[in-house]
Amino acid sequence: MPRIEIAPSVLPADFARLGEEVAALEAAGVDRIQWDVMDGQFVPNLTFGPDVIASARKYTTVPFEAHLMVLTPDQMAAEYIDAGCQRLIVHAEACVHLHRTLGNITSLGAKASVALNPATPISAVAHVLDLVDMVLIMTVNPGFGGQQYIASMEPKIRALRALIAAEGLTDAVDIEVDGGIGPATIAAAAGAGANILVAGSALYRDPEGLAHAVADLRARAHAAVAT
Ligand code: DX5
Repeated sequence: MPRIEIAPSVLPADFARLGEEVAALEAAGVDRIQWDVMDGQFVPNLTFGPDVIASARKYTTVPFEAHLMVLTPDQMAAEYIDAGCQRLIVHAEACVHLHRTLGNITSLGAKASVALNPATPISAVAHVLDLVDMVLIMTVNPGFGGQQYIASMEPKIRALRALIAAEGLTDAVDIEVDGGIGPATIAAAAGAGANILVAGSALYRDPEGLAHAVADLRARAHAAVAT
């Protein structure tokens, strides 16, 4: 049975109370917290600088990962690690020298992961799977929360899961999905092979609260992989 993790995006959180918000996510039972870092160039939105993440760090012990939706991840990597992120996720589309970028992140003491936009084939990461602990397959076009899940990414998730297995890296490389993950979509994503599931809107819109949302998503993902 694959290890399932629920990773909230703090994009829908109240940015005026980020410390309380990350503490609430920990109390709700999340496995990690994803910070959607956007530079207004790689994606048409602007979000968290390293100081914002650093200010929230002391309010929780849950691992932080920075999803760097930025054009210049090499220039920013050290600052986000110093801010308290244990993992950096760079976009293959933003890295001219992806192999070097991933190695640099590891040499800085963080875990290195790579993300693929919906149109980017998994061949873009075929020669760096030995350098990452996770591949993020975007199930929306990045930049905003609350978008429609792109179900046509499921064959891509299956193909990546097969590629990871063929390389003998099943225990070393996770598959994360991000975008439109909620009660109606998480089973299909997990059943296709994703084991780290990012959710933003689905967590914050649950009328029964964060803990219920996290437990419900986790149960649905486990049920999908148990069959
Ligand atoms: C897109 C963002 C969103 C966010 C999750 O750039 O990365 O995918 O994390 O958004 P929801 O869960 O609301 O689709």
